[in-house]
Amino acid sequence: MRIDLSFTPHQADEAVLRDKTVVAIDVLRASTTIITALSNGAREVIPVPTVESAVKLSAQLAGDVVLLGGERGGRRIQGFSLGNSPAEYTPERVKGKSIVFSSTNGSQVLANGRYARSLVVCGFVNMALVVRFLRERPGDFILACAGTNGAFSLEDSVCAGMIVHSLLKDGSLEVTLSDGALAAESLYRSHGRNVLKLLQSTQHGKYLQEIGFEGDLKLCASVDSIPVLPQLDGNVIRLKREAERKDITPAVAPS
Ligand code: MLT
Repeated sequence: MRIDLSFTPHQADEAVLRDKTVVAIDVLRASTTIITALSNGAREVIPVPTVESAVKLSAQLAGDVVLLGGERGGRRIQGFSLGNSPAEYTPERVKGKSIVFSSTNGSQVLANGRYARSLVVCGFVNMALVVRFLRERPGDFILACAGTNGAFSLEDSVCAGMIVHSLLKDGSLEVTLSDGALAAESLYRSHGRNVLKLLQSTQHGKYLQEIGFEGDLKLCASVDSIPVLPQLDGNVIRLKREAERKDITPAVAPS
């Protein structure tokens, strides 16, 4: 098994992702929001890269089962029903709905994901399920981090490193790591002990606190709190049904 890693969406373009198994990571907050929405009964999430394409698509799909969700600058986009706070995606708001979703960084990775052979959405909240998914289908894969505004983000890299660490820990898999995957595993060991503290200290985490979303950091830091596995199917993200098995092993602590 070879594990590659891209730190930003620019490093994960069509050529890199084509026919690969991809794990898309945007801890703050797109991954966590999508995982929450689907766990709370949303029928599907349709990621699109731009606000314009979101508005156009929702008009085409029209009907009261379609909601527009997403952010720019961390805040809800004007005219959209939902922002990018996982707390907004309650069962009352999202059950049975199709959500057309656009965020600054996360939906860029997800939009590129249409070239992949398969893509799952990962945050700290569904860590153990993602690790199990990768263990059960040994083969090469790429960890695609969303980053922040085109640059490296520590929280996505530590989350990616937690996956690598979990796969390595019992020594049962033969794993080859790219330098990026190796670096992420090392970052996980140095910064992954207290995920909430980590999120409170990163650039985007600090920004979210400044604009009033400190509560979201707690939701996003809650390891294994939402055991579902969203998977891209065409250009739509739905829950992978077999992911709802209850026999998950909690994610590991750094050693
Ligand atoms: C993104 O996709 O850029 C992020 O989820 C931004 C945010 O925290 O709203």
